[in-house]
Amino acid sequence: MNLVVVGAQWGDEGKGKMVDYFSDEAELVVRFSGGANAGHTVKIGSKTFALHLIPAGIISSGKSVVLGNGMVIDPASMFEELAAISAQSIEWEGRVFVSDRAHLVLPGYKSEDQSVDDMRSRPIGTTGRGIGVAYEKKASRDGVRVVDLWDSVIWDSMSKSDRAWLEPFKEWLAPMKINLAAFMLKNEGRKILLEGAQGTLLDLDHGTYPYVSSGVSVSSGASIGSAIGPRRIDKCLGVFKAYQTRVGNGPFPTEMRKDDEVVLANKLRELGHEYGVTTGRPRRIGYLDLVALRYAGWINSLDGFILSHLNLYDGFESVGLCTAYELDGEQIDYFPSSAAELERVTPLIENFDVWDGKVSEARNWEEIPDGAKKLVEVIEEYTGVAIHGFSVGPLRSETFMRTDAWTVS
Ligand code: IMO
Ligand code: MG
Repeated sequence: MNLVVVGAQWGDEGKGKMVDYFSDEAELVVRFSGGANAGHTVKIGSKTFALHLIPAGIISSGKSVVLGNGMVIDPASMFEELAAISAQSIEWEGRVFVSDRAHLVLPGYKSEDQSVDDMRSRPIGTTGRGIGVAYEKKASRDGVRVVDLWDSVIWDSMSKSDRAWLEPFKEWLAPMKINLAAFMLKNEGRKILLEGAQGTLLDLDHGTYPYVSSGVSVSSGASIGSAIGPRRIDKCLGVFKAYQTRVGNGPFPTEMRKDDEVVLANKLRELGHEYGVTTGRPRRIGYLDLVALRYAGWINSLDGFILSHLNLYDGFESVGLCTAYELDGEQIDYFPSSAAELERVTPLIENFDVWDGKVSEARNWEEIPDGAKKLVEVIEEYTGVAIHGFSVGPLRSETFMRTDAWTVS
């Protein structure tokens, strides 16, 4: 069975934690997109793992993970990350595979990425990890893939300094590189978890272009980026937070901007530790946007959602939800394609009373306070997608499913 997990907002929804949770039952985890721009946090007991390139499945002991062809890989970052998890007692040798079709981020890409963004009249706010440059070279057919390191014509055409930089990685990558299509064919029928990066609204095609990343963050990317045909995808789950965050620039219809809202935003930012794992930047905070969430449900053909961070509202008076946009005096219920229109929309925010009791203490659906259950129903009805699971804290034990992830209905 092939199960896809994607982000349903602007990234940082808690995908890393959920991938770790599902990895317990998965037999293989394949990350299908992005690069070291991602920041996936997994907390096990007192240990916190910060992953950027390595699939979050690596923390589950004995599980094999693959960096898929849809990724762009900075080998220096990758081996640094592996050294960091080794220092945290994670044995990874023999469990990490890299698609030989994945593209490489070479020295120079990072500074180019940053300087191009700095020169834009409206910068995107890139993480500066060379991601945009690597995908650009891939599309213009000037990229260097893992397999190309062993192609003498391509190797000889590279600059002397790039070759010198790549030489040690070439040796280290040799036992890790695989022909992913052949590998996936051999693994057919196993429980395979396809791990997304970024989020729906950062997707190159379906996100808030041009304020997006350069990879495919939606579920259809799981097929291309992990070398399996689209009809082999069995189930798609989307993770979202009970509020909305965004790092970097770009439209954010439900952002909390007014004075009283900024107080609420600051409170949520502190409670939710809403600072970038990759860059440390404070994340922008907004109300949960149901217009955008319904869009994510459709674009990803989601079977179910995983709702995270609802526990942060425990003890608050109310939760604000955006149920429609007003654009140039007219109410609309679709997610506009134009960044300028998204900048102009006014969100219609409805307030829901916060429940008695604590979501943070729930360990199954029955233990969710009644008021919070009602909110869940409102979200499900609006989006047409059922909420299959909950993350009510950073730990594995603070996670539960209402519907089994590994069952296809
Ligand atoms: P995870 O997987 C949140 C954002 C950057 C910037 C834009 C483009 O942790 O959810 P890039 O470096 O790709 O050129 O940046 O996309 N961005 C993310 N925001 N979570 C992420 O990944 C992100 N990856 C990129 O902040 O606005
Ligand atoms: Mg992140």
